[in-house]
Amino acid sequence: MTQLTVKVVRKTREAQDIAGFELARPDGGALPGFSAGSHIDVHLPGGGTRQYSLCNDSAETHRYRIAVLRDPNTRGGSASMHDAVREGDTIQISEPRNHFPLVHAARTLLFAGGIGVTPLLCMAQRLAKIGSDFTLHYSTRSPERTAFRDEILASGFSDRVVFHFDDGAADQILNVPAVVGTPDPGTHLYVCGPAGYINHVLQVAQGMGWPSAQIHLEYFSATPQDTAGDRAFDVKLASSGKTYRVEANETVVQALARQGVEILYSCEQGVCGTCITRVLEGECDHRDMYFTDEEKAKNDQFTPCCSRAKSSLLVLDL
Ligand code: FES
Repeated sequence: MTQLTVKVVRKTREAQDIAGFELARPDGGALPGFSAGSHIDVHLPGGGTRQYSLCNDSAETHRYRIAVLRDPNTRGGSASMHDAVREGDTIQISEPRNHFPLVHAARTLLFAGGIGVTPLLCMAQRLAKIGSDFTLHYSTRSPERTAFRDEILASGFSDRVVFHFDDGAADQILNVPAVVGTPDPGTHLYVCGPAGYINHVLQVAQGMGWPSAQIHLEYFSATPQDTAGDRAFDVKLASSGKTYRVEANETVVQALARQGVEILYSCEQGVCGTCITRVLEGECDHRDMYFTDEEKAKNDQFTPCCSRAKSSLLVLDL
């Protein structure tokens, strides 16, 4: 994938524990275009990459904007962005990719949980620009933790945004059944945020009969896994017939890399899908947020950056 060198032209405080970054080409030239819902991979100063959704107007070519929540539950990627990346620095990013595209619909309902607002803010700008009917429901813990609040209130689409604060009055808390209502073929739902938030909206909508094809999800990060019971297993590569040990404390990607076999990966959290590998034999222990439950049940592919095996051996189509 094409890598870009960009300069951090502005670093801002968007809300409590949320930093905003405005990225531009060092020569001020046009960046590759993107569509609403796109994300970029950011190469962290200390190594590794993280995916961040672009939150600015997708018609802009002079900058990409991202926002990063300082999250104590992750492996340091967010702290590195907050502490080590400064205004004026140059960083490496990928070109934008979109796994969360907007589809044309008569009406769009956007559900944002916390920092999951970023791709939905981009969508809101797009929908407002084309005059499409939409509402953004934006849930956060408190006004102080609500990134882009002032910007949204000052925007031309502020009347399409409903804020829900956990610390606010009971009558303004998000009431998913009341908002989604009965299924309507002309309406599409988009949900982004922490896993608990997404699962709540998803379960309510599905329970009310909304078809999966009208519900679009993007997990903002993987849920923390309980790794206490992890054990070692073997993976066999179909092409060479060679078998490799995956120890209890390493991923399949790490184990194979240690033994000289490289698999392309990016997020290492089961979010992006870059590492997807076909499974020919054995039973997967899916730990990703990428596949649907139906895809996981087929047991014919998995994400070796985080998923493991329930059987003692997995045969991979590598
Ligand atoms: Fe992103 Fe595996 S590297 S899902």
